[in-house]
Amino acid sequence: MPRSAPAGPRSRARTGAPAALPREPQLPQVTVAGTVLVDAAVPVLAIPVVPGADGPRPGAGTREVEQAFGVVVADELALAKAKGEPGEIVEVPVADEGRAAEQLYLVGVGDGSDLALRRAGAALARRARARGAVATTVAADSGPAGLRAFAEGVVGGSYRQPRAGLAPEGDTLRTVAVVVPASRRARAEEALARALETGRALCRARDLANTPADVAGPVELAAEAARLAAVAGLEARVWDEAELAAGGFGGLLAVGGGSARPPRLVQLSYAPGSDGALTGRGGRRAPHVVLVGKGIAFDSGGLSLKPREAMVPMKTDMSGGGVVLAVMAALQGLGVRARVTGLVPFAENSIGGASYRPGDVITQFGGTTVEVLNTDAEGRLVLADAMAYAHRELAPDVIVDIATLTGAASLGLGRRHGALYATDDALADALLEAADASGERLWRMPLEQDYRAALASPVADLAHVTRDKHVGAGSITAALFLQEFTGGRRWAHLDVAGPARSDGDEHEVTKGGTGFGTRLLLRWLEGVR
Ligand code: BES
Ligand code: MN
Ligand code: ZN
Repeated sequence: MPRSAPAGPRSRARTGAPAALPREPQLPQVTVAGTVLVDAAVPVLAIPVVPGADGPRPGAGTREVEQAFGVVVADELALAKAKGEPGEIVEVPVADEGRAAEQLYLVGVGDGSDLALRRAGAALARRARARGAVATTVAADSGPAGLRAFAEGVVGGSYRQPRAGLAPEGDTLRTVAVVVPASRRARAEEALARALETGRALCRARDLANTPADVAGPVELAAEAARLAAVAGLEARVWDEAELAAGGFGGLLAVGGGSARPPRLVQLSYAPGSDGALTGRGGRRAPHVVLVGKGIAFDSGGLSLKPREAMVPMKTDMSGGGVVLAVMAALQGLGVRARVTGLVPFAENSIGGASYRPGDVITQFGGTTVEVLNTDAEGRLVLADAMAYAHRELAPDVIVDIATLTGAASLGLGRRHGALYATDDALADALLEAADASGERLWRMPLEQDYRAALASPVADLAHVTRDKHVGAGSITAALFLQEFTGGRRWAHLDVAGPARSDGDEHEVTKGGTGFGTRLLLRWLEGVR
């Protein structure tokens, strides 16, 4: 009699683990309210508070709530020693027969900047979660950009990780209705629609990163990509391992070779609609952007095995790939005018009799030979295939890749900033600006060509890591390796090993996979003409 169930997919029935990725992310609806604040049929009303030299000042909606509930907001602020800092919340119980509200939240909005409103939104979402629904004047007077930031904060801050086969733990925030004067409703609705589209993409990217690698292997992730493509009206192509071999994708095959679960390459294509979008500004053809995301389903390090603690978070090593899928699925909703192709090489960097080894020489897509020195530097090998394919087969105007590529980037810049590398100053500036507007932070790093020589190999066109220990600059040399596969096209590289994961909830960022890059790439693409 067999002592245990056979390994493989069937063992799932035994463990009770879910066999599928989470489907559509559950978001709170952020809407424009059709009523005045105090008449909203919700348990929580929230009004803004700004700091001032003579103490904090309550903003829009103060008079209405004071009249309806007989509270004196200034007294409540004084009692609570409130300052009006972004995200600070003073709770005031209220009651009036015939009105639904039970709590009044006095929400600090700081200087009213987009950043402060985003934080206020996140704080409000967390605090109000158990109560389900909120009506608010916070951000109502802030214009479309502030309203979008506020709503993206609400969505980001209310995100919770999927739990195996179960609904997320605890209560769900269902709605946040923003009371906007009638004259500004149309623009407010447009801003909220953009915020929700962005927020959905953000939560999708987080779900993908947070899903355990047993559920989300390369095959499952590729299937999810194809499902998303069908829903979002994208064209999809998926290469299986035989097709990858026939196509010459030697990097992806080498990295994926040690796993029982074979690698996949996914290509998603978006073409803007015909509402004048077929051509860009001045009748030009719309530019073609290729996004490439690192899709390592789990990074054990391979034969160059990672230490125990370093391996624990490595289900998120497909964060860049998850961001690319989530971004692709949101392009139509945001009316992006560029042509965009998403490429995600999916593989599991595992140990087995068929693992690639230090000392192997592999042939990347397009023929470049690479000497492998450390199987834990796997990301650049799968990206190199995808980028070489983009350059040779898709001839794009711009390539942008996003990857949890090096611990060095995280060591140098910490966990708040992504490292940005670019061959083109205008491209770098546009990405920095989009990051700033979206609430994600990038820091530009040098593509220092002096270090290129350290990637020389005696047995191949190049080595994928430096042999010379004195070079250091691990994030830069990884970028220089990738640059070899761009064919000289305009290119930017985001090394997001730091900000792709968070150890705790902070403002609109949540613990675990953060979806970092989703917001900034969408902002940037919204502006590409
Ligand atoms: N996925 C890791 C990078 C990483 C480290 C991401 C920590 C998130 C948190 C990558 O594949 C890796 O292992 N990089 C090596 C490269 C080295 C072997 C040249 C690293 O950074 O140590
Ligand atoms: Mn690695
Ligand atoms: Zn990795």
